Amino acid sequence: MQERLKQILEESKEQLKNAVSLQDAEDVRVKVLGKKGQLTEILRGMGKLTPEERKELGQAANQVRAEIEAHLEETFAHLKEKAQQAKFEAEKIDVTEPGRGFEMGNKHPITVTIEEMSKVFKSMGYSLVEGPEVETVFNNFDALNAGPDHPARDWTDTFYISDDVLLRTQTSCVQVRTLQNQQPPIRVFAPGRCFRCDTPDATHSPMFHQVEGLVVDEGITMADLKGALDRFAKQLFGPETRTKFRPHHFPFTEPSAEMDVSCFKCGGKGCRVCKGSGWIEILGCGMVHPNVLKVGGIDTEKYTGFAFGIGVERVAMLKYGIDDIRLMYENDMRFINQFK
Ligand code: DAH
Repeated sequence: MQERLKQILEESKEQLKNAVSLQDAEDVRVKVLGKKGQLTEILRGMGKLTPEERKELGQAANQVRAEIEAHLEETFAHLKEKAQQAKFEAEKIDVTEPGRGFEMGNKHPITVTIEEMSKVFKSMGYSLVEGPEVETVFNNFDALNAGPDHPARDWTDTFYISDDVLLRTQTSCVQVRTLQNQQPPIRVFAPGRCFRCDTPDATHSPMFHQVEGLVVDEGITMADLKGALDRFAKQLFGPETRTKFRPHHFPFTEPSAEMDVSCFKCGGKGCRVCKGSGWIEILGCGMVHPNVLKVGGIDTEKYTGFAFGIGVERVAMLKYGIDDIRLMYENDMRFINQFK
């Protein structure tokens, strides 16, 4: 028995010396001192011995146990320390390393242009409204007085999602939503994305932006339209800017017009930007057609209104001298960084 105890002690010492992890040390503890451990077994078997033998073996076993426990404690402490060191080593940071510079982004020219327009409209007392990009065919066409045979409804121009749902082709549908939800006096602007099945080229993109405007109140006339849009143009392009209205046709306005501004590049003398004419067309507008007001439940005997729709890409391209609309959607930082 004494021999066996010695053997257990030596073995344990050897194993603890070789232990590289806390688990190794724990394995030794369980193997020797655990419930079914080698030493525990010996102590348990002592019942069969004479009192004399029991005393002797008990003392020896206790001594071995104490020795092994001391070794265990030492090994655990050592290994814990080692694990801690390894952890510190792995988590070490070099506080002298120079920081990595990060690049500041900047706003896209479309965003900048919409923000500039929004600022002007807000200063003129307009509130911002928004509508969904996925619209009903009714709001995008029927409610805007574009009858079933209107050419814009043709599937070649419009992304239809179903017979009744489409990607809006214009922000004018926000007029319909506004008329249905608000009572006059109404004075709103609505920036947003529009979609048309166009093959991309220098001036066409299947996704583009418009800013819509709508004013409805008692006694609104074409003079209010001209005054408001002239003021808008002067605020956006500078006080020297002049405006000119040309007759046009839109199904949702009557009468309808397009507005030109004097070229902000050459001041009207004629240059490359205005193609020598001195004028640049920037928006469509008109007096809201009574049929549109009626869809919104507005009393057309009492109220009149005007509306307008501005092409954001067109204004941004002219303003910043961008000659290909596709550049706006390529996310090339060399392009975007020019608009800081
Ligand atoms: N929705 C028209 C378009 O996409 C632009 C437009 C013209 C909007 C006249 C208007 C308007 O509100 O009165 O071409």
